Amino acid sequence: MKFFIDTANISEIKRINEWGILDGVTTNPSLIAKESGKPFEAIIEEICGIVDGPISAEVIALDAPTMIKEGRLLSKIHKNVVVKVPLTAEGLKATHAFKAEGIRTNVTLCFSATQGLMAAKAGATYVSPFVGRLDDINAVGMELIEDLVTIFTNYDLETQVLSASIRSPRHVTESALAGAHVATIPTKVFDQMLAHPLTDKGIEGFLADWKKSGR
Ligand code: E4P
Repeated sequence: MKFFIDTANISEIKRINEWGILDGVTTNPSLIAKESGKPFEAIIEEICGIVDGPISAEVIALDAPTMIKEGRLLSKIHKNVVVKVPLTAEGLKATHAFKAEGIRTNVTLCFSATQGLMAAKAGATYVSPFVGRLDDINAVGMELIEDLVTIFTNYDLETQVLSASIRSPRHVTESALAGAHVATIPTKVFDQMLAHPLTDKGIEGFLADWKKSGR
């Protein structure tokens, strides 16, 4: 399973990228809004200079013609830019147009299997089911990941399942078990995935024994 980082924060991206485990980055308007000072395009360009993989940048427009204009401009920033489009009728039209132009898309805000299947049929490169936000409303977000992986496999669809709105290491493990192609993970969850008290205790014990040995 590929790991994307779900942030627009440059220092967080640099820190996690140094671990050698990052395959890409996803941003959204809320994440970009947190990074004050720099224009949207400049942030995306800077991210593209750090991580050599798909970098999702989201359109703001709600109508297909304007989404297409925005997406074309975003895709010109760097060859790795993937245009993020909301899962609406206008978003499907834009996705279909982008596919014809060879522009890769990440169709976002997917909350049902039928939505995801339609995004795939429209030509989405990735579809992003939001696991955490489904859990928040007392649904089981991970069931959507499992359903989409099964459906895309059943029909040999090229669209990749990008597990999004990840809130815990457990979500990452379950996404991998379900066969999600990608998980986009917040920085805090990367830290939680790595940390283990037995690793820390083990290092402490090894070092103490080493010191005692007098070598
Ligand atoms: C996906 O690409 C989104 O940026 C993201 O995963 C949303 O997560 P949230 O529900 O924690 O805002």
